[in-house]
Amino acid sequence: MYVVRPAAAAAAAFLGFTLTVLGGTVASAASPARPSAPRAAAGDGGPLAGPVVYAHRGASAYAPENTLEAVDLAVRLGFAWVENDVQRTKDGELVVIHDDTLARTTDVEQVFPDRKPWRVRDFTAAEIARLDAGTWFGEEYAGAFVPTLREYLDRVRRNQQRLLLEIKKPELYPGIEEQTLKVLGEAGWLDERYVAGRLVVQSFSTDCVRLVHRLRPDLVTAFLGTPAVADLPKYAEFTDRINPWHTTISAEWVAAVHELRGAHGKAMGVDTWIVDDAATARKVRDMGVDGIITNAPDVVREAVGGF
Ligand code: G3P
Ligand code: CA
Repeated sequence: MYVVRPAAAAAAAFLGFTLTVLGGTVASAASPARPSAPRAAAGDGGPLAGPVVYAHRGASAYAPENTLEAVDLAVRLGFAWVENDVQRTKDGELVVIHDDTLARTTDVEQVFPDRKPWRVRDFTAAEIARLDAGTWFGEEYAGAFVPTLREYLDRVRRNQQRLLLEIKKPELYPGIEEQTLKVLGEAGWLDERYVAGRLVVQSFSTDCVRLVHRLRPDLVTAFLGTPAVADLPKYAEFTDRINPWHTTISAEWVAAVHELRGAHGKAMGVDTWIVDDAATARKVRDMGVDGIITNAPDVVREAVGGF
């Protein structure tokens, strides 16, 4: 359970840009229901305070993952960067959800008992909109829903947050790269100031990351995985960041990534996942990672600073 703390001002540098996160009122775990869109701001300026801390699927240790509530809680805790997962419905709407089935994080089994295995791609957007995506996590989140990517982008933008967008299982959704970029563009997320420091697109699929880079060479991208050092130069041709599972890395590997210049000519970065405890946060910080992707961003900040 996270510790309620005063709103914090922190600053750090990222991708050649700096920002200051001014946290709004911090919600307590006892009263997190229906957080309204907070007014926290992300501005510019300030010294490097620690690694970038990404709220994984939002502040998902304390609110249902990939919901607007999890995004809002992240900004209330003072975190600008949120991570999400994007998939596609039967009728072609992009939605924000991690699993390729709806069973774990919604009440789909009650609402549509005859639709096993409840795959995201077998349901229309209207059907998914009927589902409760909060009660599984806690009664206080009853009524939370699976957001469309458009709804999600609008909320993150309104919160003045920044987005680490994962295209999840692109092999299931032909054309999802082009479609994701289209939605991002329509929502204003491909405007210069967003591309410059507010958006990173990542995937476990090399082909997906390479395609996103080809379609929008100005976008910052990240590859999810831990390529062998000998293979890193190939990745540097089309991506800027390598984002590995924390158990798979060493200080030497991180240094090898940093030695390379990525697709935009800057030293490549490393953002590691999923780190939810202080000891591991300090361990990966000492390895030299640039960012930590975590379900419990307050725990990581407490351990290593960052924002
Ligand atoms: O951002 C890193 C992380 O999200 C990758 O794993 O399964 O949580 O999407 P997963
Ligand atoms: Ca993810």
